Amino acid sequence: MERYLVTAALPYANGPLHLGHIAGAYLPADIFVRFLRLTKHDAVFICGTDEHGVPITLAAEKRAIAPKVFVDEVHAHMEATFAALGISFDNFSGTARPAHYETTIEFFLDLDKKGFLEKKSIVQLYCGSCNRFLPDRYVEGVCPRCSAAGARGDQCEACGSDLDQTELVNPYCKICGAIPVMRETSHWFLKLSDFEGRLREWLESKRVAWKENVVNFCNGLLAKGLPDRAITRDLDWGVPVPLPGAEGKVIYVWFDAPIGYISSTKEWALKKGDAEAWKKYWQDPDTRVVHFIGKDNIVFHSLMWPAVLMGKGGYNLPWHIPANEFLNIEGKKISTSRGFAIWAHEFIESFPADALRYYLAIIAPEAKDADFTFKEFQASYNNELADILGNFINRTITFIEKYYNAVVPPLAGNDAETAAMLARIDETGRTMEQAYAHFQVRRAAGLFMDLCRDANKYFNDKAPWKSRKEDSAACGSALHCCLRIIRALAVYGSPLIPFTCAKVQAMFSDAAPLDWKTADAPLIVGAPVKSPGILFPKIEDAAIAAEAERFQKHDTNVPHT
Ligand code: MF3
Ligand code: ZN
Repeated sequence: MERYLVTAALPYANGPLHLGHIAGAYLPADIFVRFLRLTKHDAVFICGTDEHGVPITLAAEKRAIAPKVFVDEVHAHMEATFAALGISFDNFSGTARPAHYETTIEFFLDLDKKGFLEKKSIVQLYCGSCNRFLPDRYVEGVCPRCSAAGARGDQCEACGSDLDQTELVNPYCKICGAIPVMRETSHWFLKLSDFEGRLREWLESKRVAWKENVVNFCNGLLAKGLPDRAITRDLDWGVPVPLPGAEGKVIYVWFDAPIGYISSTKEWALKKGDAEAWKKYWQDPDTRVVHFIGKDNIVFHSLMWPAVLMGKGGYNLPWHIPANEFLNIEGKKISTSRGFAIWAHEFIESFPADALRYYLAIIAPEAKDADFTFKEFQASYNNELADILGNFINRTITFIEKYYNAVVPPLAGNDAETAAMLARIDETGRTMEQAYAHFQVRRAAGLFMDLCRDANKYFNDKAPWKSRKEDSAACGSALHCCLRIIRALAVYGSPLIPFTCAKVQAMFSDAAPLDWKTADAPLIVGAPVKSPGILFPKIEDAAIAAEAERFQKHDTNVPHT
């Protein structure tokens, strides 16, 4: 039994969750944690909202409410969405809470004391009409390298050059359009170069286990040398810089956000009445810390955050960082600013959470970007969950209720097909265990459906509608085997489709809590079983069309009436 601390990237509290978020981080993390719980590992699943940063202050301003009021609203909304999706966090905190400020300040001061921070004077673009320094993403101008218009403060998309915002020709403020001026300010920088050697060594130790994209990407950056990063900002929303002469400055959102993993764990410990319990997860080197993220978060989790942890000392470095690629919608990139996104809370108003979980699992963006299509979503549900899994369970239980008094019939004899089927259950348990343990969500879902397919084939081969009349004991025996499959499916599938599997498990009167080890244990002959009812009512074309239309209406680029 291992101990795990599993996190999913803290979502920015600046708008609702979309399916890209779910597919990239929250669902794979939840599947992994549910698997750990089934296999009786000690696992704590941590998340919370990332409540700082400029976009949040702008969104709050737009609504003329305080940032704290705004983030609290988004937090509650996200929490409800996650619950409806079955994302089973042990704690869902937020980074604007006092306890998070405390932990962040402790880290900042400690790094400063140890000499890993340096205060420097820099020149930045300041918008006089907005009264603020402009973050890189809020200033645009002409690219000094290729002369393209619309280059951003950090990068020109036309030529791909990395830029410093002060290099932009004819810069303008993206918020109000005014022309900013250069102004001097001072900030604290994290001396990342101090950690290069240790980071390189640490990443090398991960080369075999981690995805190549993560390790190669980081090694590429390390090879160029890591520049010092400013970790403070001139802003009035965030954790105040806890040093004299820092009025009006806050800690940069990307410095405090990952510390949110720790403060959320502390909150979890407090809530369960064991305030020190968090330490076991963060400070005992036997614990495996796993961060589920989307690929846009790789740099922060595999270089900056470990550097902060190394500087602080005494904390576990990430054991694994499963980073996923992106989810596209109908072949196009998700864009929240354009409204080109399927909002999770809307989608599950229309369809069961398990339908979405299953589809996002079979197309999981593990090795490359995945594509969500409404048609495929419908097909995966109707043709796989309903026609294969649902049908198998329904056929089995119908026979048993009708002809075997709704109790488990005895397993008789030792025919080759049944022996093979029982072995197949065991084999699936082993291969799915491997898949889950290696974050291979797609593979796990595929193996699960393969067993469902084989189960239907077994049912067809055994033809109980015929054998019932010819050899009732043999027929009962086959149905016994089918029930064994069903009970195993309820366990093996529960990380993927937990709502359904709970109903399937409840078919068995002697049902023990779900446990991987006993998934294919023998059944008690004569124990009552009951139908779970219709598990997967078909999704009609009209429902899909209506949802696709709702989605189209969000998209400001699509003309609609
Ligand atoms: N809020 C960031 C995003 O949505 C992720 C932050 S992960 C953190 O991209 F842990 F560092 F908070
Ligand atoms: Zn402005």
